[in-house]
Amino acid sequence: MAEFRLPKNSRISKGKRYPAPKDAKNVKTFRVYRWEPESGENPRVDSYDIDLDRCGPMVLDAVIKIKNEIDPTLTFRRSCREGVCGSCAFNIDGKNTLACITRIEDIDGDVRIYPLPHMPVVKDLVPDLTHFYAQLESIEPWIKTDTAKPTRERLQTPEDRAKLDGYYECILCACCSTSCPSYWWNPERYLGPAVLLQAYRWIVDSRDEATGERLDDLEDPFKLYRCHTIMNCTNTCPKGLNPAKAIAETKKLMVERRT
Ligand code: SF4
Ligand code: F3S
Ligand code: FES
Repeated sequence: MAEFRLPKNSRISKGKRYPAPKDAKNVKTFRVYRWEPESGENPRVDSYDIDLDRCGPMVLDAVIKIKNEIDPTLTFRRSCREGVCGSCAFNIDGKNTLACITRIEDIDGDVRIYPLPHMPVVKDLVPDLTHFYAQLESIEPWIKTDTAKPTRERLQTPEDRAKLDGYYECILCACCSTSCPSYWWNPERYLGPAVLLQAYRWIVDSRDEATGERLDDLEDPFKLYRCHTIMNCTNTCPKGLNPAKAIAETKKLMVERRT
């Protein structure tokens, strides 16, 4: 019988504990994934007891407090602190989301923070998004036109502009793609929900003149059709978007143009 084992260096060991100050009265424990691949050591989960009376309300506030006041070696990405840059995407309490818009008080018990799943880890909470961005580039996420350059901007009717609602707001945080089991299994060939949502955003843009070409490129057993409507993507999107719908609409366009 086949025997499956996790690679030795994927086993998570017990990490260090950093206790709260002695006078703290409102303490919550943050259990944070730590791994430095070059060190040759296994990943570990460190526990930080944080005094919530001296911390901002969001999970990112606690992570920044840990780095600034307790453990400067903790590594993570963040920028805007208001849910618009997409860089603070972690797996928090089992769900992919943005740390800067996740309230600590909404999480029962310890707060568990891991990097986005099924991505190579650069260090601690930082995933390597090189392949994700290469996939985004592959769908050419910019307006493509054949007609002569107009002397003024290309206009849209309000109705055509409304077709982009629910899609243009995507901040490319990768929460959806890294929650999709189909993407976990075929990340090399399946584009995943975030990139497919972007592809659809350009397919339905009335100003774009490469719709046929864009659909031709997606007519592939892996790029598009590995979506099996699992819906994790839509359930997890921290911006409330619906990548599953974008994928379903793209599949519909594929059928319509064949008939
Ligand atoms: Fe993030 Fe949502 Fe865009 Fe996916 S669709 S990348 S979860 S904002
Ligand atoms: Fe994956 Fe979402 Fe489709 S979770 S399988 S992309 S509906
Ligand atoms: Fe920009 Fe969280 S820091 S989305």
